[in-house]
Amino acid sequence: MYRGVLEHYGHLLDLPAHTRPVSLLEGNTPLIPMPRLGKELGVELFVKFEGMNPTGSFKDRGMTAAISEAVGRGARTVICASTGNTAASAAAYAARAGSRAIVLIPEGKVAAGKLAGAVAYGAEVIQVQGSFDAALALVVEITQKTPIALVNSINPYRIEGQKTAAFEICDVLGRAPDWLCLPVGNAGNITAYWAGFKQYQKGLPRILGVQAQGAAPLVLGHPVENPETIATAIRIGKPARGEQALEAARESKGRIIAVSDEEILSAQKMLAGEGVWVEPASAAGIAGLMAEAGRGRRPEPVEGSGFEARGKTVVVVCTGHGLKDPSVVIESFQSPKVIPANYEALATVIGV
Ligand code: F0G
Repeated sequence: MYRGVLEHYGHLLDLPAHTRPVSLLEGNTPLIPMPRLGKELGVELFVKFEGMNPTGSFKDRGMTAAISEAVGRGARTVICASTGNTAASAAAYAARAGSRAIVLIPEGKVAAGKLAGAVAYGAEVIQVQGSFDAALALVVEITQKTPIALVNSINPYRIEGQKTAAFEICDVLGRAPDWLCLPVGNAGNITAYWAGFKQYQKGLPRILGVQAQGAAPLVLGHPVENPETIATAIRIGKPARGEQALEAARESKGRIIAVSDEEILSAQKMLAGEGVWVEPASAAGIAGLMAEAGRGRRPEPVEGSGFEARGKTVVVVCTGHGLKDPSVVIESFQSPKVIPANYEALATVIGV
């Protein structure tokens, strides 16, 4: 029986002896082949669908580790700043452990499914009048002054847990892919994947990190004061692990690029068109790959010099489930038609 990432890969994770496993059987997510989209882009394409984790995002891999360590050393309260997914995950694992969870979110900028999750799992949800970055500064300060445990990805155990996604990909493919594409927000996940691939020694992918154009500090080379994007999960102007993200891109001979909100929505639609519905931020990875290929809404490939992933094995990490942010779809895809309850009306509307 599968028992979660700590049980499965714990021997490869650098966790203290006092760690006391708190698990919801996270991980073991599907690596889904995407033959249609792959053919269109000229690559062998897989989606690592992290939306299939217990709270609907990849955060659960790191949260099981961070909460297990915190509980093991006797911390009774955990806190995080979050654009939503970390909040829901921290809330769930704290509930599981019987601990108190406090989550700080940017006021009015968190998708409905995430906010509802955090509330449902019983966290104390506090809206901050400011960005994620301001909320993160607050939780860092309070955890320096009190025994409350910080469970953002500044916490090294979060990274340890999140490395397991790289291990799983290698276990399924038998080796690392040639390219790994993923969204970058606070830059914990790209850091964890790169550490995981380096440790596992099944080859190294080139990494394409993708930010939203309105929140692209790593592309611009400086913090963004007022980040803005429809992909609220990655609406971050000052990534805590920005340096490590740049290092992962550089060392892997990859890069970090930015895509527009339009490109993100169109990529979300493309993925859903092949049966995989992800939240907007989660579509940034595929949007980046499409931009590199000169597809979608861009007339020219990003680098202008050919598409380096052509013919290669590419894994796109889809970090969170589409159910997290339903309103974005209702607003930008299509509104269902309304008909009277009779056969004629149905036949007419579907054209038979
Ligand atoms: N995708 C989703 C769905 C996310 O929720 C996040 C981050 C990312 C990508 C980016 O990952 O921060 O490790 O670079 N969400 C955080 C949160 C910030 O609070 O839920 P990252």
